[in-house]
Amino acid sequence: MPMPLPRWFAHRGGGSLAPENTLAGIRLAVRLGYRAVEFDVMLSSDGTPVLIHDETLERTTNGSGAVCDTSDALLFSLDAGCGEPIPRFADAARLCRELGLLANVEIKPATGHELRTAEVVARMAADVWRGAPIQPLLSSFSLEALAVARDVAPQLSRGVLFEVVPSGWQADFDVLQAVSLHTDALTLSDDVLAEARARDVPVLCYTVNDVAAADRLLARGVSGMFTDRLDLFVAQAAA
Ligand code: G3P
Ligand code: MG
Repeated sequence: MPMPLPRWFAHRGGGSLAPENTLAGIRLAVRLGYRAVEFDVMLSSDGTPVLIHDETLERTTNGSGAVCDTSDALLFSLDAGCGEPIPRFADAARLCRELGLLANVEIKPATGHELRTAEVVARMAADVWRGAPIQPLLSSFSLEALAVARDVAPQLSRGVLFEVVPSGWQADFDVLQAVSLHTDALTLSDDVLAEARARDVPVLCYTVNDVAAADRLLARGVSGMFTDRLDLFVAQAAA
């Protein structure tokens, strides 16, 4: 169990202060005192899990086309920003383990690849973090993927991720044996917060890039937040 969860998670590695979903971003988060980092994981066409957010390469790299149709040989030759390569998940996971960072591994399958992505990522996470004092937290918008992660690596904690938390979320939460509820800060209702509080479920919100908004969310009872603006929350993240 990665409990208790830190309050601050660096979003997509180093947020907006480094190329997203890169090892440079993860290292920056540590240098700034962050104890937790979130990143997104998808499969290449060779079935290798890599850190990337979009299903296509255009926004974050100098490549083009679908990640799930791109070979490792091509993916790892691309520039993901400032000369940084797209990282292998295995390397990012080992780095987090070495640095003592809590990793929120967001399983981000390309459409149609939910089950395979979850299987590969959960298996690799279990391998890399076996015996580690700080264990990762797996999350996904895909409930199918989380169910596979639960079956493949039941010992790893899971967070259920919703853009908008649906009524009756507790049923999915229970089936998936999750430990945390993750959602968009902009859509989080007080009703959901009260339901989570009643069950002692920590609520984590993305993406909080404003000090006043963070203060309001904390006052409402949110447990943790993902931020792109690592610079704004350095003191709190290191506390
Ligand atoms: O896991 C929290 C957050 O990263 C979800 O949104 O689109 O940034 O992956 P996204
Ligand atoms: Mg994410």
